[in-house]
Amino acid sequence: MAQWPLHHRVFLGLLVAGLLLQGLGLRVPAAGGWRAEVKAMGAERSLHPASWPSFLGLESLGASQEPLQIPRNGSAPLLVAVEVFVSNVFNVDILRYTVSSVLLLRMSWLDPRLAWNETVHPRRAFTLPWDSIWTPGLTIQEALWVDWRDQSPRARVAPDGNVELYLALTTETNCDFELLRFPRDLSDCSLSFYALSNSVMELEFQAQAVNEVVSVKREYVLQDLKTQIPPQQLVPCFRVTLSLQNTALKAVLSLLVPGEALLLADVCGGLLPLSAAERLGYKMTLLLGYLVFHSSLVQALPSSSSCNPLLIYYFTVLLLLLILSTMETVLLAGLWAHDRQGARGSPSPAPRGEEHRDHGDSGPPQDQEGRGGEGKGTGRSRAEVADSIFFRVYVVGVVCSQALFAGIWMWVVCKSDPAPGKAAPHGGQPRL
Ligand SMILES: *[C@@H]1O[C@H](CO)[C@@H](O)[C@H](O)[C@H]1NC(C)=O
Ligand SMILES: *[C@@H]1O[C@H](CO)[C@@H](O)[C@H](O)[C@H]1NC(C)=O
Repeated sequence: MAQWPLHHRVFLGLLVAGLLLQGLGLRVPAAGGWRAEVKAMGAERSLHPASWPSFLGLESLGASQEPLQIPRNGSAPLLVAVEVFVSNVFNVDILRYTVSSVLLLRMSWLDPRLAWNETVHPRRAFTLPWDSIWTPGLTIQEALWVDWRDQSPRARVAPDGNVELYLALTTETNCDFELLRFPRDLSDCSLSFYALSNSVMELEFQAQAVNEVVSVKREYVLQDLKTQIPPQQLVPCFRVTLSLQNTALKAVLSLLVPGEALLLADVCGGLLPLSAAERLGYKMTLLLGYLVFHSSLVQALPSSSSCNPLLIYYFTVLLLLLILSTMETVLLAGLWAHDRQGARGSPSPAPRGEEHRDHGDSGPPQDQEGRGGEGKGTGRSRAEVADSIFFRVYVVGVVCSQALFAGIWMWVVCKSDPAPGKAAPHGGQPRL
């Protein structure tokens, strides 16, 4: 540590900074999207050039080189390196199509105006309030809200003028989940960061993302992280894409297993003889139970204009199958009862045809009501034949529908319709 700032230099620095302040006037607060955001949250900002160390070569700054303006890099844009550390994805709301995440941004760029001669002032680095120098203002396109953790972060300046600024933020962003395979879905969610106060001629991002999520006890796990510089933008932009995989077992256990069990129970109900009085009660109970399950289930699933969860269709088909099989039971039980009435009227069962089972006692049907199994004494009635045919068709139909859903699940790829906004380039007036 050497004997640095000399008194007269401090005085000179303050003087120049004061002059600069006056020269900048009111343009300062408008610079940068997130500055505006921070301001909107009620934190009053004021400039702190007084906190600049006096050795910062401020004396050499002319009016054309205002420190709050973006550093120039000849005719090329200034390169700002951004590293995005994703430290948490703490909430994924598929009903609202939102993702909440915690990010840390590390931005660094070269501002030669802040460089100092290290041999004269041997100091490794110092920090400055973010609003006393130029910093890129960032706005997240998909964000519903952004909470910048530190209201007045400090930038670290190295002797060569390399500025490093860390920004921690919590944000809730909109994401178009692809929910066709809902309990096992994998979606890409992007966060597009725009520096709206600069043009692509002035500023260029070089982005990189690091997955720093440590917790795995989550429904949605961050599988992959990509960064991208979208081409042909009017304002500098970089995009971070989070690949979120749903790993929850809960939905499988609470939705698929009961659905399959119910269908199986319904198929088994078809094995009860038509004459058994319990069969109708059994099917009705299943249907009623399922109706309750169905409405709460459909409430729990998200929906959209395209690529709805396959489960919605699956459960609707399940409902139709249950209704079909219950209706069949009602109709054929009615027909069976009607046949029995007719059989009581005419004692000979022969004209009904289809005597597959000629064995046993083919006496006249003297038992009318109640206990099952007595119909077979007359051979099989029309209703029973129809029932056995229906049962086979129903089993085939159930198996086919399950196979169809399994096939769609495995092979069909659903791409949502392109967003209307994707066609138009983002940004304000071109400043090219
Ligand atoms: C200036 O632009 C050149 C060419 O794009 C680049 O290599 C260099 O890193 C830039 N310098 C700064 C300070 O951004
Ligand atoms: C730093 O200051 C020393 C002493 O005044 C001088 O010799 C040297 O050239 C300076 N270095 C730079 C990079 O200006």
